[in-house]
Amino acid sequence: MSARDASAPMPAVSAVPVPAPGLDATFAASSVPVPAADYDQLVEWAKRLEREAPLFRRVFAEAGVSRLIDVGAGSARHAIMFAEWGIAVDAVDPDESMLAQAEVNAAEAADRIAAAGGRLRLHRAAFGGLAALGLEPADALICTGNALPHVGGREGLRTALADFACVVRPGGAVILHLLNHERLLAEQVRVIPPVVRETSEGTKVFLRIMDYPDGGKSIDFDFVTLVRDHAGSWTVSDRRSLHTALPANILAEELEAVGFSGIELLGGHDGSALGVTDESVILVARRSS
Ligand SMILES: C[S@@+](CC[C@H](N)C(=O)[O-])C[C@H]1O[C@@H](n2cnc3c(N)ncnc32)[C@H](O)[C@@H]1O
Repeated sequence: MSARDASAPMPAVSAVPVPAPGLDATFAASSVPVPAADYDQLVEWAKRLEREAPLFRRVFAEAGVSRLIDVGAGSARHAIMFAEWGIAVDAVDPDESMLAQAEVNAAEAADRIAAAGGRLRLHRAAFGGLAALGLEPADALICTGNALPHVGGREGLRTALADFACVVRPGGAVILHLLNHERLLAEQVRVIPPVVRETSEGTKVFLRIMDYPDGGKSIDFDFVTLVRDHAGSWTVSDRRSLHTALPANILAEELEAVGFSGIELLGGHDGSALGVTDESVILVARRSS
């Protein structure tokens, strides 16, 4: 089986197929910026989901969403929220450690999901591998939190978006959310403000440092984590992740090329229009009938 059913009272965990759809030699462990547990510590989930929920509710109501695919779902926090809204969610991610954390998070939410009449399945797959999962057509697909820049170049983007179009029904919605690459490139932003968290392992400091190696085609993200343990000693770990630069106009162009239309370019989950200084970009589109 390719899915892990996390909505049943006793979540059934199934074996992950190897190779998983969309995974090939280009997906390396280094594609995943921070270990899954760290990612859940870095993000203030309750605040983030509260801030983002109204936009999802608006788009899902407009598109009549009862089945949804979340690609690059990470630790499945969004997927769980949607399943708790009664939606049938397929959460897809290529990284085993993210899926393992997703399973823990989903198991904790299983009763709430069941009570809401939702369901959540976890799948191991990457961009380009969705159609091969053989899911029923979705009413919406989301790809949030800067997962999309892992597509591996413009060709990879085209493959990923064509795959999105294959799995979303006509009239269905797509929501893409990532950092505003136009701003990063224009201002050559070198660092995202550090985040400090108190954890059971001690104090963690999350640093994200960017380099622009090839004149605007890609962005190197160094994710550096400093940990001060309870004895006061510091350790440093780091991972580099190569992101494809994806300015919003290119995304809009490529979405249209694979059959999405009515594209909204937003600068925040409050629905404001995208501006040059916005930190993030959100694209909302509908698959043409
Ligand atoms: C920063 S997390 C975002 C998680 C979540 N969507 C969010 O909004 O917080 C980026 C995710 O992209 C996933 N990812 C990396 N390469 C990918 C690929 N080729 N296809 C799909 N997802 C990928 C990672 O495993 C990771 O879970």
